[in-house]
Amino acid sequence: MNVEGKKALVFGGTSGIGLATAKQLAKLGANVVAISRTPDRARDLPPGVTLKACDVRAGDAVAALCAESAPYDILVGAATGGERATGPFLGMDMDGYKRCFDKLWGYANCVRYGTEHLAKDGCIVLVSGAPARRSRPGQIALSSVGGAVEAFARGIAPEIAPRRINVVSPGVINTPMFGPAGPERDAIADKRCADHLIPRAGTADEVAQAILFLIQNDFVTGTTVDVDGGWLLT
Ligand SMILES: NC(=O)c1ccc[n+]([C@@H]2O[C@H](COP(=O)([O-])OP(=O)(O)OC[C@H]3O[C@@H](n4cnc5c(N)ncnc54)[C@H](OP(=O)(O)O)[C@@H]3O)[C@@H](O)[C@H]2O)c1
Repeated sequence: MNVEGKKALVFGGTSGIGLATAKQLAKLGANVVAISRTPDRARDLPPGVTLKACDVRAGDAVAALCAESAPYDILVGAATGGERATGPFLGMDMDGYKRCFDKLWGYANCVRYGTEHLAKDGCIVLVSGAPARRSRPGQIALSSVGGAVEAFARGIAPEIAPRRINVVSPGVINTPMFGPAGPERDAIADKRCADHLIPRAGTADEVAQAILFLIQNDFVTGTTVDVDGGWLLT
């Protein structure tokens, strides 16, 4: 797909990976709607990016936003959705474990209500996470959710064809998910990667590049691209 002149909805497009994706799409000439609960916090938006407010957990709100934005060619799901639950499963607060799945429910809403207005040659990209296929101690909730996202995309791909759907699985990426920008966040993110094949945190732009690849390459569907600095081999 040549994204020039195409319309894209980027859920979670006001921060981190989603914002980097919105900027890269706009740079290539796409008309981008960046969506989150508090979009006004987004800064330094280039021309071609407009903001809308929506909580991806609210199915009716997602359906209304997709209907009013239709038609469009690209849908990216990068909203964290809710809280991240970490720690050993046998000590886990089960409500926290369930809330971690807000990410999946948000993506499911975006695909359920977003696909009907998506161009026949359009595509969807979701973001999972490296624990999906290699969980480290304390990451069982993240692993469960990420694995569900990847299985969801593989499973739904035949149903929505000829539209395409793919997933990008990031490793540790230095974004506002780890707090405000600054040396403290840099140190936290890099420390987590000290034993990786590429011993540093990734950038939101590096993940966005993979999202752009999956949007632009019309021969890819139902798969996951890892952008993880070698997490799976570490
Ligand atoms: N950073 C990493 O190391 C990493 C690693 C693996 C996977 N991931 C995944 O990558 C995706 C993007 O993460 P990120 O690092 O870019 O995080 P981020 O910088 O915190 O951005 C998250 C975005 O999601 C939006 N959002 C969160 N909950 C929402 C909701 N309920 N409804 C609508 N929008 C919502 C946020 O805006 P509002 O708060 O205004 O709603 C924000 O725009 C997430 O799925 C995350 O799990 C990240």
